Amino acid sequence: MNTSSPETAVRQTFDTVAGSYDQNGVEYFRPIAARLVELAELGAGEYVLDIGCGRGAALCAAADAVGPDGQVVGIDVSAAMIEKTSADLRRRRASGMVVAVMDGAHPGFGPGYFDAVIGSNSVHMVPGLESAYVRYRTLLAPGGRLAVCAPASVLEPEPRVFGLRSIAAASARFSVSARVYPQEEAFGGAEKAVADLRRAGFDNVVVRVEDVVLRAVSPDQFVRWTWTHGMRMMWDTMPAEHHEAVAREIAAEVAEFATESGVFEIPSPVRYFIAR
Ligand SMILES: C[S@@+](CC[C@H](N)C(=O)[O-])C[C@H]1O[C@@H](n2cnc3c(N)ncnc32)[C@H](O)[C@@H]1O
Repeated sequence: MNTSSPETAVRQTFDTVAGSYDQNGVEYFRPIAARLVELAELGAGEYVLDIGCGRGAALCAAADAVGPDGQVVGIDVSAAMIEKTSADLRRRRASGMVVAVMDGAHPGFGPGYFDAVIGSNSVHMVPGLESAYVRYRTLLAPGGRLAVCAPASVLEPEPRVFGLRSIAAASARFSVSARVYPQEEAFGGAEKAVADLRRAGFDNVVVRVEDVVLRAVSPDQFVRWTWTHGMRMMWDTMPAEHHEAVAREIAAEVAEFATESGVFEIPSPVRYFIAR
């Protein structure tokens, strides 16, 4: 069991999963990041900061959007994530992207340096968000946008996490950090986030909730995926003797989402905030 502070637990978890994060074929993080980048309306030649860049889902989508004259800087608090992503970029000889280990609570860049600050499934984990929003606004040039997103909590008619009752039940039972799990609303909920963003100096805030389709080729692939991201905290917190039974419950529920083409598609809501 991890008894460290929430920030340390988050960093250690993402250090642990960095090698397998977003690599096992389940579709979730990339379609969300692509949608976030679309909503941020990035233009050719723009400079973008990606907070909590992980293995580069939003980083790469943003680099495609800004083209060869633009630049995307990815930061992440997990050194292992940055090491892996940096190696990926070197292997691909990718240009227009740089990554660095840095806490998203205190990004060390000059005022007005970026046209957009983005964070896909990451910024809700940053501590002290109210003051971080002020720092993000300061980093933006006139006309700049902040675009962030996280899973939208589902509590009615019954709690679901990643679209599944079984995960909500297991994560509630084994008390997982609320910053990673949407048992409590990410960003403190839409109303609070909009108020915080306005207080930070953003005057136009748009909130959208859209389903992403979580797609797996098998229930087992889905269960393996749950070990490769923030959900890992649930497994690490749960006494090992429960692992098998909880995995079986999750796999059985995933099986209910079989499609005619033989894959498993679970709709899961995501909340996007675009602030100008
Ligand atoms: C769920 S992953 C998302 C990664 C990537 N944006 C994506 O869409 O695949 C969350 C990432 O946020 C990073 N993160 C968490 N807290 C952070 C903080 N305070 N500052 C910077 N990065 C942070 C984690 O290390 C992890 O890589």
